[in-house]
Amino acid sequence: MERGKSAVLDDLIKQGINSLLEAKAMAAALLAAFAENRASTTTGTTTTTATTAATATASEQRRSAAALVDKLDAAVVDFERVIGHWEGVKERYYVGERIIRAQEEAWRRVAREIHDGPAQALANIVLRAEICEKLMAAGRPEITQEMEQLKLLVKESLREVRRIIFNLRPMTLDDLGLAPTLTKFLDNLQEQGGPSINFVVSGQERQLPSTIEVALFRIIQEAVQNAKKHAQANRIDVHLDYGPEVITATVKDDGIGFNVDEVQREGYKRQSFGLMNMRERVELLDGEFSINSKEGSGTEIKVMIPALLPAEAAEGEGGGEPSSR
Ligand SMILES: Nc1ncnc2c1ncn2[C@@H]1O[C@H](COP(=O)(O)OP(=O)(O)OP(=O)(O)O)[C@@H](O)[C@H]1O
Ligand SMILES: [Mg+2]
Repeated sequence: MERGKSAVLDDLIKQGINSLLEAKAMAAALLAAFAENRASTTTGTTTTTATTAATATASEQRRSAAALVDKLDAAVVDFERVIGHWEGVKERYYVGERIIRAQEEAWRRVAREIHDGPAQALANIVLRAEICEKLMAAGRPEITQEMEQLKLLVKESLREVRRIIFNLRPMTLDDLGLAPTLTKFLDNLQEQGGPSINFVVSGQERQLPSTIEVALFRIIQEAVQNAKKHAQANRIDVHLDYGPEVITATVKDDGIGFNVDEVQREGYKRQSFGLMNMRERVELLDGEFSINSKEGSGTEIKVMIPALLPAEAAEGEGGGEPSSR
């Protein structure tokens, strides 16, 4: 659905409802005129056969005008339902479109990371292997040093590939769970320097449905990366609280803050998808998302996600009587 087409449909619906409302007003005016006419004929003192016939016709017309008003009323209600439905369809479409765009953006980044990292490193490795080959053929002693360089390059590329794989889908999420995976991620990030990162886990730590763990990991990952990239902060605090029904994650920095409204309004134009993506993930899981930031005074991102998936929660509600035995 192109935006142009959807605007044409919006206009058509608006025109339709306006015509209906006009017709309804005309019918109502007609009805009022009939009522007035009837009042003046019934207040007269003499009644002739002709006026009786005229009154009968007028009352028939009044009835059909009243029926017309009822019909138009019903049509307006139907139309309003169509509008409500259409708005829902549009909203779902745009949410879907945003998700697809955000996914495309994520793939594009991975492709660029592989292109700039391991792909170039491999090309370099081939080049160095060729040098080694020549040195070996010539029986030159530098071969040992060159081989050592080659090994280092392979090791570094392996580490880079592992990092990309970890960012794509940390395997430890399935094996160890959310909190240890976050610890590993945050430790790695801290090793690269920058603000000090503190991570606190509270509540009853437990395994959550994988969709929720992945979502929370991605949200915290993006929020911390944002704080590192944009905030010029000294400190980043990450808190994960395992409540009985709700899991709450907060990422807080003491950096420069930003104008949330402006950034959210211009998300598409700026080609920034991080915050948008966080919000989508939280909404899909029936959670709550808030950004508290002011220019000059740090940022706090807070998400609250029900510990059960929406479908599981619905199942639980209709899950019948608890057993008394
Ligand atoms: N913790 C923060 N401190 C200061 N500014 C922030 C912070 N988080 C986000 N921002 C501002 O909000 C903007 C939007 O963030 P978002 O994560 O959506 O996009 P991005 O980080 O610029 O790009 P992307 O996440 O798509 O790589 C950022 O460009 C930055 O200006
Ligand atoms: Mg970002």
